[in-house]
Amino acid sequence: MNNNIKIAPSILACDFSKLGQEILAVEKAGADIIHLDVMDGHFVPNLTFGPPIIKSVRSLTNLMFDTHLMVSNPDSLIDAYADAGANIITVHVEACNHLDKTLNYIRSLGCKAGVAINPHTDIKFLLNIIDNLDLILVMTVNPGFGGQKFISNMVNKITAVKEIIGSRKIFLEVDGGINSKNSSQVIIAGANILVAGSAVFEGGNEESYRKNILSLKV
Ligand code: DX5
Ligand code: ZN
Repeated sequence: MNNNIKIAPSILACDFSKLGQEILAVEKAGADIIHLDVMDGHFVPNLTFGPPIIKSVRSLTNLMFDTHLMVSNPDSLIDAYADAGANIITVHVEACNHLDKTLNYIRSLGCKAGVAINPHTDIKFLLNIIDNLDLILVMTVNPGFGGQKFISNMVNKITAVKEIIGSRKIFLEVDGGINSKNSSQVIIAGANILVAGSAVFEGGNEESYRKNILSLKV
């Protein structure tokens, strides 16, 4: 088992009627981080939740809240997510006009700054902002929905991002369609945070979550 790998369950796949219990259950089952998928129905064709929901579960756990903003104009929302208790705020490069400024602003609020990269997006831009980053999120599906198929071409992109990161202390996170069949591939390519929704919440109880989380780390 690889202990350097962190598993970040995406609550998008949990039972929202018992959100608090689901967060506690994945924590007990070994989750390292809680991944929060914020969608605005504009940047992506789906709508999820915002700061009040995040705030309502913040006091339940000390695990880091990893807030993945799939929204247009994220700058207008950063304060609200920091205030709701996000530890990591990740914006999409495709949604930012002034990424350098946005990342600096996130850090100025005491949060870790992440940038997410859609499957079609080139990674050259990373060279220009690499020192303003705490996390790079390589999307392995087109964002918007849980339960999609992993795009295997993205393994090469993960390797290339890893090369750019070099010895810097920057997390390399992957998100979308991650399961026990492809987790070793993305880990070998350099990923160290694996987001998984469907693959973690399958089974619907803590015991299944524990098995599911362990199966992603090998
Ligand atoms: C996709 C989201 C992902 C996704 C993960 O837009 O960012 O976090 O919900 O869910 P699975 O693991 O089911 O693909
Ligand atoms: Zn996500």
